[in-house]
Amino acid sequence: MVHREGILVSTDGWVNTAAMGADVDEDLIRFRIFRPSDTAYNLKEKKEFTFSLTDDPMLFYKAALTGHNTQEPELEEDELIDEDGLYYPKKATRVYFCRVISTEDISIKDTYGSAEILTVEARILRHTGEADFIGRENPLVDIMVHLTRYIISDDDKKEAIEGYVKSILEKEDSPTAEKIAQWMEERR
Ligand SMILES: Cc1cc2nc3c(=O)[nH]c(=O)nc-3n(C[C@H](O)[C@H](O)[C@H](O)COP(=O)(O)O)c2cc1C
Repeated sequence: MVHREGILVSTDGWVNTAAMGADVDEDLIRFRIFRPSDTAYNLKEKKEFTFSLTDDPMLFYKAALTGHNTQEPELEEDELIDEDGLYYPKKATRVYFCRVISTEDISIKDTYGSAEILTVEARILRHTGEADFIGRENPLVDIMVHLTRYIISDDDKKEAIEGYVKSILEKEDSPTAEKIAQWMEERR
């Protein structure tokens, strides 16, 4: 089993894109989705979805930090490929086509307090593409994981996240780094 960070595209009337971590086995893939989440809602309604790896940090930005719990699209139509009603990002370097086998609602306690989670187990029907991809070893991807917890954090945690994010952004100079800085500025 390997852990991967990627982009989950689900549909149920509208197309929803979210950054997710996944445990990937030979032909099984598992997710833990914090609720409320558009992805969690969609996967209960429509079983087919895609999970894509990518080497593009901007794709993680759009999937993780825009459009959460709204019907605003994270990606524009021309940034997605439509394969018989299943969508994946054009910038994907590997795409897993999956079907949900089972889901379970669980409650956990973590450092942010208690959380409602949907666990999802899905079958990998097929996959395409073998090119390079990035994950949390990329500092921008890593700070985005922390920022998705920023809004639900108390003041102390917010301060800690801000400090960490700033220390990374000081060393980065890219359009994605700029977007992240702007995102944080707007929420302080
Ligand atoms: C690299 C990365 C990995 C993430 N992994 C998860 C995850 O495993 N589970 C989760 O619930 N959220 C995860 N997130 C946060 C979601 O992407 C974020 O909350 C998103 O807005 C959820 O969108 P949705 O409401 O469309 O489902 C991750 C974010 C990043 C940047």
